[in-house]
Amino acid sequence: MKNKVFIVLFALILTFGIAFADNDLISAKSSKKVLVAYYSWGGNTKSIAEKIHKKVGGDIFEIVPKTPYPKDYRKTCDVAKEQKEKGITTPLKSNIDVSKYDVIFVGTPAWWYSMATPVKSFLLKNQKGFEGKIIVPFVTHGGGGKYNIPAEMKEISKAKVLKKEFVVYDKGDSSTDKNMDKWIKELGL
Ligand SMILES: Cc1cc2nc3c(=O)[nH]c(=O)nc-3n(C[C@H](O)[C@H](O)[C@H](O)COP(=O)(O)O)c2cc1C
Repeated sequence: MKNKVFIVLFALILTFGIAFADNDLISAKSSKKVLVAYYSWGGNTKSIAEKIHKKVGGDIFEIVPKTPYPKDYRKTCDVAKEQKEKGITTPLKSNIDVSKYDVIFVGTPAWWYSMATPVKSFLLKNQKGFEGKIIVPFVTHGGGGKYNIPAEMKEISKAKVLKKEFVVYDKGDSSTDKNMDKWIKELGL
């Protein structure tokens, strides 16, 4: 008899345990319409964008410039520097209607102490669509951190609400996944 009670109790604990674990997973997916938009030259920001997308759901959009940047790192640095100094943006290969979303995650590598040119171009091009929206920045960098990128993203996009950013060095490390979960939870979407 004792054994039977134990088995029933064990089965109940197992069932509820699995049910609650499933609930956690569902609540991690936002009920709002979510877009993850990003630009990546070398793959770091792409890898973070894909991780975020897997956790928050919704759609993902890669910002691609019409004219690709050079394959060579130094040459890309030179082109980007000139664009920054001259205040030049770059035409994009395609666009997405951001007005269809409630929350737009926008990812960029740090380029010359600011966001990458294609991301700036994307925000400028979509100012109308960003009206009344929530923008959530994420930044990958080579040691310099986020600079003033989150505030600049809000200013350029004209989004209504700026949520806390996610910042990683390179493409992150073994703590990135845990930190990302915490960040997403605290965004309260
Ligand atoms: C044109 C260019 C400019 C950069 N400027 C900075 C910078 O100002 N500060 C910094 O920390 N890293 C800088 N980096 C390094 C990148 O931000 C970093 O490697 C980033 O993770 C690259 O992301 P990606 O692989 O998605 O392109 C620069 C890289 C490039 C190509």
